Amino acid sequence: MKSVIDILDLSTDEIEELISVACDIIENPDKYAEKCRRKKLATLFFEPSTRTRLSFEAAMYELGGNVIGFSAANNSSAAKGESVSDTVRTVSCYADIIAMRHPKEGAPMVASMAADIPIINAGDGGHNHPTQTLADLLTIFREKGSFENLTVGLCGDLKFGRTVHSLINALSRYSGIKFVLISPDELKLPDYVTNNVLIKKNIPYEVTTDLVGSIPELDILYMTRVQRERFFNEQDYIRLKDSYILTPDKLETAKKDLSIMHPLPRVNEISVAVDSDPRACYFKQVLNGKYIRMALILKLLGVE
Ligand code: CP
Repeated sequence: MKSVIDILDLSTDEIEELISVACDIIENPDKYAEKCRRKKLATLFFEPSTRTRLSFEAAMYELGGNVIGFSAANNSSAAKGESVSDTVRTVSCYADIIAMRHPKEGAPMVASMAADIPIINAGDGGHNHPTQTLADLLTIFREKGSFENLTVGLCGDLKFGRTVHSLINALSRYSGIKFVLISPDELKLPDYVTNNVLIKKNIPYEVTTDLVGSIPELDILYMTRVQRERFFNEQDYIRLKDSYILTPDKLETAKKDLSIMHPLPRVNEISVAVDSDPRACYFKQVLNGKYIRMALILKLLGVE
């Protein structure tokens, strides 16, 4: 049975089908209210989360299913030394599908090899976060109507920001995409993403430290949090954490139809004064995350 560990596990057709189902769920929620009756989702979160865990759980409840799980490693037998493989083999006896977040990169992949039910990667270290990318794609589709011919600014922690890596992989499948990579030197996009995606696919991109100078050309500005939990040295985090703070004055030169996105949680990257700007989409992303996760659960459970 298929698992989703990386956005690359989904073909372009599959992503577009998920977006189509999510749009139908938005239009016709009643049609889906009993689709997962008697099915169980397990949410195994070894690392903190608000949006991802609760949106998975809300998604399953809105499909008429049930939810079990834990929200921290120390609430599970991982605290006694149990392996990820043994944990998911155990949970497979109780649930039909698992959403897992883990601080170790590759842990959901290991889980998918041990389990005989679908595993959804809900974020692994600084590696991947494919369902956030699906939420981002649904948001872009609903805001822009297409994934083509967009200049996308990615700003902040491009090194550890797993949502950025998955989004670059997904949008690179479409024509007319250009990326503007805005970060301090220390938090630049990892070479493996630049080389394996941007250069390999001949995608145009600029690397800059200048947010304000980049804003006028952008169709999408995707802000990210500096990922404190991935730093080895607190002093480096303190030095870099406020590198970019989006405020209303910085948006004066922006396009009228700019879409401002952020996977959340935010710390200081976007001033709350921006929240009332009609171009702010980050809470729409949160809601879209529930709809696209409903579509993904249906697909992986093989529900028509
Ligand atoms: N965007 C996101 O993954 O948020 P949480 O960490 O709250 O799940």
